Amino acid sequence: MCKWGHKKWQRRMSLRLDYNYMMNGYVSDGHGISENDLLGLREVTREIHSELSEQRQKGKIGFFDLPYDEETVEKILGYSQQAKKRFHNVVVLGIGGSSLGPKALHSALAGGVWANLSSRKERGGIPRFFFADNVDPVTFTRILKLAEPKETLFITITKSGTTAETMSQFLVVHEMLRRKLGSKRVAEHLAAVTDAQNGRLRNVADKEKLTDFIIPENVGGRFSIFTPVGLLPAALMGIDIRELLAGAAVMEKRCREEDLTANPAYTAGALLFLADRTKEKRIDVMMSYSDVLYDIADWFRQLWAESLGKKASLSGKEIYTGLTPVKALGVTDQHSQTQLYMEGPFDKVLIFLAVEKFSASVKIPAVYPELSDLHYLGGHTLEELFTAERLATEYALLKAQRPSMTIMLPEINPFTIGQLLFMLEVETAFTGGLYNINPFDQPGVELGKKFTYGMMGRAGYENMLESYQARKPKSVKYII
Ligand code: PA5
Repeated sequence: MCKWGHKKWQRRMSLRLDYNYMMNGYVSDGHGISENDLLGLREVTREIHSELSEQRQKGKIGFFDLPYDEETVEKILGYSQQAKKRFHNVVVLGIGGSSLGPKALHSALAGGVWANLSSRKERGGIPRFFFADNVDPVTFTRILKLAEPKETLFITITKSGTTAETMSQFLVVHEMLRRKLGSKRVAEHLAAVTDAQNGRLRNVADKEKLTDFIIPENVGGRFSIFTPVGLLPAALMGIDIRELLAGAAVMEKRCREEDLTANPAYTAGALLFLADRTKEKRIDVMMSYSDVLYDIADWFRQLWAESLGKKASLSGKEIYTGLTPVKALGVTDQHSQTQLYMEGPFDKVLIFLAVEKFSASVKIPAVYPELSDLHYLGGHTLEELFTAERLATEYALLKAQRPSMTIMLPEINPFTIGQLLFMLEVETAFTGGLYNINPFDQPGVELGKKFTYGMMGRAGYENMLESYQARKPKSVKYII
């Protein structure tokens, strides 16, 4: 049995949530959450829990069951074993929930940009990874220049199969492959991750017989990291996806607990909800004290913002909810943002991502004995300094009456990352219940999309173009 199958190892690798400094025994009443308020949410938590469980059982919410989809894992591993050897580069075409997840996994578990700088041998035969993500022509041109078509697999990820950004990238790549490699070889270099039935990518994948992987209908983009959206790229990165899913499964079991304070995802969500509702904390800053977890803060930012930023409650009442998620990096942002967090408005909660044991150690040499304000660093390690700075910042914020909580990872490995990502998904879905909104839709992004379609000449959106053209002209007075 592999190490992550061992209960003892799993216990040692268990993720912990430390929320002491959210509570009013530590921060003053004006800023800390009272135990009564927290426990006061117990009953509604049970109701939300049973509602989520019911939706899950009815098959309406699919992400809870993803850690157990062995069939998909088999298919991905079968394909990726060959593809890893065959391709030197993988370019992911996708945006939002179809890109941030695999990107976060690459940074956390596969070396991120640094891996791309090392040789194929140093990477253990794993391809280089590029995430197109945006439609900035400068970046896209750079990627296409770096990724020699003959040696590159392009994975197009889009649940709807119609997203303008992703499908534009796809069209450019498809044409480039046809031109450079010939029509017959195009399909070999393309894989599609999309819905089983719907969307233009589905049509093309079927028609051109592309290798394809399915995003289950009942899993939304930002909750799809444990579908082929995250798992296919992860397997190609050489990440042990079974270990990742084992971590997610362990967290899924912890999150079956309906008692608020026994469930880390519910506790974290309830604290942020109370901080907003009772202490006017409208901003949650996820501050990673690990470079490689920073893209998880980015992934979470999208998950949280799109899920909870809502105009209407479930009953249609206008409520305009949502804490604004911000990502920050320790210690880097101590020299950029901490001044604001310490002395600016009392509108923030800090969520630290902390790592107990780093996979590398760097000793600081004990030189310049005559310079005491330099010499004291000698003999310590960089990871000691990193941890000391995290603890010092946490404590300084506490002294300034700024609440924080810490999500503690014993190590960074697929098992702990699986736990973290799954916990954040459950936390988001649950917090949606507290706000009485639907965390699984995103009506607010539609209007901008429709104006874009109009401007780009999509049939059926002529009225959007007309509306745009009829807008009140901007005043030159305000352009200087
Ligand atoms: O969470 C979501 O649903 C969105 O962020 C989508 O992931 C994003 O808009 C991309 O959509 P699609 O996968 O359909 O291209």
